Amino acid sequence: MIVLLLLGAFLCMGLAEQRYDVEYGDSLNLWVPRKPKSFEFTRKFSPNVTILWKWGEPLTSLDERRKYMGIFFEMYNLTQKDMGIYRFRGKEQKELSTYTIEVKAKTKSFHKSPGKHLRFSAKLEPNFCNVYFFPEGTLRRRMSEVAIVRRGKLQRHLDELGLVGFDLNEPCEIYIEAIQNTYRGRYEFRDENNDTALEVYLHVADPTIRTSELKVGAQLSFNFDLEPNDCNIHFFGEPSFDIVRHGKLKRHLYENDCIGFELIKPCGILKEDLQMSCQGRYEIRDQDGDTALVMILEMEGAAAVKAAPPKTRHLSLKLLGLMCHTKSTTLSLFDCSQIKSASPLGPLTALSLLLRPPTR
Ligand SMILES: *[C@@H]1O[C@H](CO)[C@@H](O)[C@H](O)[C@H]1NC(C)=O
Ligand SMILES: *[C@@H]1O[C@H](CO)[C@@H](O)[C@H](O)[C@H]1NC(C)=O
Ligand SMILES: *[C@@H]1O[C@H](CO)[C@@H](O)[C@H](O)[C@H]1NC(C)=O
Repeated sequence: MIVLLLLGAFLCMGLAEQRYDVEYGDSLNLWVPRKPKSFEFTRKFSPNVTILWKWGEPLTSLDERRKYMGIFFEMYNLTQKDMGIYRFRGKEQKELSTYTIEVKAKTKSFHKSPGKHLRFSAKLEPNFCNVYFFPEGTLRRRMSEVAIVRRGKLQRHLDELGLVGFDLNEPCEIYIEAIQNTYRGRYEFRDENNDTALEVYLHVADPTIRTSELKVGAQLSFNFDLEPNDCNIHFFGEPSFDIVRHGKLKRHLYENDCIGFELIKPCGILKEDLQMSCQGRYEIRDQDGDTALVMILEMEGAAAVKAAPPKTRHLSLKLLGLMCHTKSTTLSLFDCSQIKSASPLGPLTALSLLLRPPTR
């Protein structure tokens, strides 16, 4: 008997309150408790209570996005205006269960070299597509906010503001032909209620290149400011493999390889107890595969082999990376194709190869 009572108490407590953190556009099903008499909603930051359903009323669609199905209360395409507290009440206004819903914008981040193109989009109807830009660089001193799209129309004053090469594609996609440094900042896609559906962070810079020489057993860690979901980290060594894909650590099975990475936020890795096979090139790339950071790791000891290599070793040096240099910048192998005769980066002035002897 005591056990049953306790169990009952536990169940009641478990049902009493729940919190959901969702993203713009997500769906949710709320459990309807037994014998509800009414269902009400208190919007966040508002004292007003709206009765969504009362005993005796039919179980029908309240609107297109909300359905009361008896067992579940279904909500689709959630937005910030749905944020707040949902309460089921029973006899004598007794609270049966309470759900708190928080809605946040989806987020994306990109890291691009100047001159690259970029597209990003939100799932919004053309008429409800609004895009605002909040600059971060030098442009910020002149303006804190620029409307790029209003109700599905690309704004006309963009060229005058120095924002050239912006295009709008239906339903709600921005295309930038050639990224400039001043385009750095945050882009917000807002719906008809001015609720933010998507926030895009654009970083503009050439890839950062770092080198590090470490001993066996030492620790390696590096990190970059990209949204965790957009984080990709590759290793180019022997063998090459993905360490992180879309923000998730990949399992790697072979014992002799460099294994045992830990993911660090927002987009980086930590590796304790380095082994020889960890020598190589690491790249952090954004969701389009553009390189944000290059980390070249040389293991000490491998250098000794390099000092007096037997003749045949020369043939088996491994290519770790290729850098191209112009007067104004240094690019990794993947960006060398940008250097054309008419490119603003200027002509190619030097090439450097990053080589290392093979590991045993
Ligand atoms: C609350 O309800 C009152 C009366 O209907 C209305 O005037 C007021 O604007 C509402 N407040 C909010 C924050 O919705
Ligand atoms: C949810 O939003 C999508 C995209 O705007 C739309 O196609 C769909 O009809 C919506 N669903 C409901 C139930 O409103
Ligand atoms: C919507 O948000 C933008 C960006 O902050 C702002 O400039 C605009 O005035 C807002 N519109 C309304 C109607 O509040």
